[in-house]
Formats: sequence, C-alpha cells, structure tokens
Amino acid sequence: MTPLQQTFDLCRARVENALDAVLPDPALLPRRLHEAMRYAVLGPGKRLRPLLVYQGGQVFGINDERLDPPACAVELIHAYSLVHDDLPAMDDDDLRRGRPTCHRAYDEATAILVGDALQTLAFRLIAAAETPEPQQRLAMIETLAAACGSRGMAGGQAMDLAAAGQRINVAELEDMHIHKTGALILASLRLGALCATHTERASLASLERYGRCIGLAFQVQDDILDVTGTSALTGKSSGADARREKSTYPGLMGLAEARRFATELRDEAVESLAPFGDRADTLRALADYIVERDH
Ligand code: IPE
Ligand code: IPE
Ligand code: MG
Ligand code: MG
Ligand code: MG
Repeated sequence: MTPLQQTFDLCRARVENALDAVLPDPALLPRRLHEAMRYAVLGPGKRLRPLLVYQGGQVFGINDERLDPPACAVELIHAYSLVHDDLPAMDDDDLRRGRPTCHRAYDEATAILVGDALQTLAFRLIAAAETPEPQQRLAMIETLAAACGSRGMAGGQAMDLAAAGQRINVAELEDMHIHKTGALILASLRLGALCATHTERASLASLERYGRCIGLAFQVQDDILDVTGTSALTGKSSGADARREKSTYPGLMGLAEARRFATELRDEAVESLAPFGDRADTLRALADYIVERDH
C-alpha cells in the first residue's frame, strides 16, 4: 500500500465516523428524510474533499481534531450537490456510488429536501465548532458559502445545463469546470488553512494555485472517465455525458488532448507546492492520483 493510500484510508475512516455522528439519528422524525440523508452521505465515496481539508490544515501545522468540522462540512455540501446533480431536472442519473441515486432509492421530493438539509447542516457544523476562534469560523462560513453559491458550484451547474447541446469554446468550458467542481475543491484547502491562526500570504497563494490546478484537473478526469471508465469501477453509468450532449473536455478537444491537459495541470499543481517541502508529500501524490485514477 502506498503512503497516499494509507493516508486516504485513515482520512476516510475518520471523516466517515464524524459524519455518522453528526447526521441525524434515523429513528428521529421525519424518519424517511433522515434515512435518505444518511444514504446519500454514507455511501462509498472517495472523500477527496475532506482529505484536502486535513492536508490544507496539516501544511500549516493544524491537528486533525480541529479539522473535523470543516472536513464534514465539505463532504455534506458535496453529497448534496451529487443528489441534486442526479435529479431528473439535471443529469437524470440512476446510479451513484454503485447504488441507485437518492431520488431512485427514495423519491424526488425527498432527494430535494435531502440536498436542502445537508447544505444547512454543513454550515451549522462550522458555526457550532469549538475551534477555531469565532472570527476564523465566520471567514470559513463565508468561504464555503461563496464556493457553493451562484458564483461557485451552483453557478457552474447552471453553466453546465445551459451548455448541453451547445457549441461552447475551451475558455467557456474551463470557466464552467472551475465553478462547478473547482470551487469546492479550492475551498476545501482554504478551510483547512483557515483553521490556522497565522498563514503566510505567499504560502496561502501557493496552496491556492495548487487547488485551482487540481480542481480543474479533477473534472477533466471525471469527463475522461465518463468515456473510458467502467460502471463497475466508477459506480456511475458510463457514457452519460454523450447521451445528454454535455460539453466536456474529451468532447471538445478529444481524449488524447484532454489527457495531455490534465497532466499539464498536474505538473503545475506539483510545482506550486515547492515552498512546503516534504510537508506537502501527500498533496503531491494526490495530484498524480487525480489524473491517474480509474474511479
Ligand atoms: C463526482 O465527485 C462529481 C464531480 C464533482 C466530478 P467524486 O468523484 O469526488 O465523487 P465521490 O464522492 O467519490 O462519489
Ligand atoms: C458534477 O459534475 C458536479 C457537481 C455535482 C457539482 P458531473 O455531472 O460531471 O458529475 P458526475 O459525473 O455526475 O459525478
Ligand atoms: Mg452534472
Ligand atoms: Mg452528473
Ligand atoms: Mg461527470
């Protein structure tokens, strides 16, 4: 097992425990909503965004306990975005994380409410955390809100829907990916760093440059896997982007060029980590993983 796999496994176990503890008890009313929230969050996800929170904090010397609330918060936002992304009005998908999508396992109204409730729970966790100081927690809430709003993930999703069946150029495609996926990935690193009382401006800028590169590379690879991946590995239906005439990197520039672009972003990401020395080894390995992953 590689050091990255080990760190990833530890982070996954840690954040899944924490998520299990903060999600409402399914015995509480309304039972069906609480059960569906747990279904959407606790299914087998990679937990990439929590790992970025832990690592974003770790390069500034923050311990994991302080990072649990923002790590849970980004995963709750991510899970909500997947539940809504799969709805019939959006990508209309039946399979997620190898299981029926939330609206298939429950119903559409429940899936909409699951998204609503997961989003507010995310902000509540940061607001109610014991650390860091209130001023830092306010900055975290603002950072996360900006990353998921109309100038972040939700805006990117709107661009994605508007671009279906349209001819858009590479600059427009990049802008869409940066918003729909890059924003939350960058915010995850920022939330980790915001737990520190002092972060040197130059170091933060380096971490953010890394975050922008891997955020875009992550969605480029997601587009590639929709073409080349197998449903058994990705846990999603393959070829869904083409069926819905989505604007994607392989669709616009071809597979080889999309792969080349992803590795270029990976190289820039790794270069950005130079100021951190070996403290950023996990983030370096993660940049490779993002463009080499098969799920
Ligand atoms: C899928 O995200 C949606 C995108 C933003 C591309 P992930 O690939 O991180 O999904 P899970 O959490 O591992 O299921
Ligand atoms: C999803 O992008 C981005 C968000 C959920 C914000 P996709 O629509 O490509 O994600 P998958 O492929 O369904 O996981
Ligand atoms: Mg989508
Ligand atoms: Mg989708
Ligand atoms: Mg996709």
